Amino acid sequence: MISIAYIGLGNRGRVYMGGLSGYEDVAVTALCDTRPVMLDHAGGRSPTATRLADDNAFFAAGKLADWLVIATPDHCHFRHAKAALQLGYHLICEKPVTANPAEMEELCALAKEKNRHVLVCHVLRYSPFYRTIKEIIESGAIGEVVNIAHEENVGYFHYAHSYVRGNWRNLSVGAPFLMAKCCHDVDLLHWFIRRPCESVSGFGGLTYFTRENMPEGAAAYCLQGCPHIKSCPYSVERLYLKRFTQLYWGKPPAAGLPYQPTRQELREALKENDYGRCVYQCDNNVHDHDSVAFRFAGGATATLSISAFSLGTTRRIRIQGTKGELWGRDHTMRIHLHKFGKAPKVLRVRNTNISGHGGSDQCFCEAAHAVMAGGPIDPENLTTIEQTRISHQICYAALQSLETGEAALVAAQ
Ligand SMILES: NC(=O)c1ccc[n+]([C@@H]2O[C@H](COP(=O)([O-])OP(=O)(O)OC[C@H]3O[C@@H](n4cnc5c(N)ncnc54)[C@H](O)[C@@H]3O)[C@@H](O)[C@H]2O)c1
Repeated sequence: MISIAYIGLGNRGRVYMGGLSGYEDVAVTALCDTRPVMLDHAGGRSPTATRLADDNAFFAAGKLADWLVIATPDHCHFRHAKAALQLGYHLICEKPVTANPAEMEELCALAKEKNRHVLVCHVLRYSPFYRTIKEIIESGAIGEVVNIAHEENVGYFHYAHSYVRGNWRNLSVGAPFLMAKCCHDVDLLHWFIRRPCESVSGFGGLTYFTRENMPEGAAAYCLQGCPHIKSCPYSVERLYLKRFTQLYWGKPPAAGLPYQPTRQELREALKENDYGRCVYQCDNNVHDHDSVAFRFAGGATATLSISAFSLGTTRRIRIQGTKGELWGRDHTMRIHLHKFGKAPKVLRVRNTNISGHGGSDQCFCEAAHAVMAGGPIDPENLTTIEQTRISHQICYAALQSLETGEAALVAAQ
């Protein structure tokens, strides 16, 4: 039997609990979350598991399972991973592992010293869409990769929710925008090109969600008499109450909101909850757009753009090789393949697990379970800590460049 403990039982913790719950050789032995409501909810599925509402008490209790799933907020990952490795847990750890290069080195060394597996939740690598792209590249169909143009469209409503009002709005509680959102995308670039990235140059910033852009007379909270409530695309009336979207409120409760609130409870709470704030008057300081260029050994290049200002939440990729090119948008599950001199083809990606990042979450759980069950380690395709060390190093250089405005060299890989 494989025993698993979970720390952080919010949105992501529950994804992994759900994804691993179908395996008969897996037993949940311990749960930790600082919010009792989350412990109660997750504990209902695993009544015999030890429940702890304090992370210090959790680690003081010793090793409670073979594996620990770390799905706490960004700023907790390093501390929780370090404590867990010292106790001898194997880890499934949410991304980003840490925005601090020295901490990353420390964790890699500790994992090696303790001979522990650390799988990082760069789940996109496991998605049927990106796996198919990887297979096309590896088959040689488009020759040597020369350039990749990759774009992440965050979605204006999703950006406002998570990066202006919510958990990733400020560097004191979350990682920088590029690290928090695009460490997945940088991981994909590194996986597809398979050569060391040498240097990075980027520009970006926070340009729009600031007080200077506040419409005249806007209230601090939408539901405290804001005169723009009907016209503002970010008003809580429009984003949360009109559609009463389950996108956010059917999931674990955001700070200070009741669990699965009724519309009336939500309306009351949003009058003075963080999610009810005017998007031009929040304490947000993370970027709302970044554009970064990468140069890899051998001369291949890539660009990555991330932006809040899109209608949809989708990624778009175009890969050009010496013998052909391919492109697609991940949510369409279609890949356009054009081998030079041949007729273009459209490949439909077969995907039986459609939910959770286009099937990535479930496919990640399947791959993680195989490792837990003692299966072979595929160092090229699994998101091990060694693979993540490389893609995080590229992110660190990108962050340095965004800060200084100068090109930055990537640490030797
Ligand atoms: N891999 C992906 O595709 C993906 C997608 C979204 C988020 N994430 C990452 O997953 C992590 C969790 O995100 P989420 O959306 O689940 O957030 P969340 O807020 O829904 O869940 C986090 C949970 O951790 C708990 N928590 C906070 N501090 C704690 C502590 N010190 N000890 C124990 N529990 C604590 C909170 O109460 C909450 O229930 C973040 O780092 C985020 O960046 C990854």
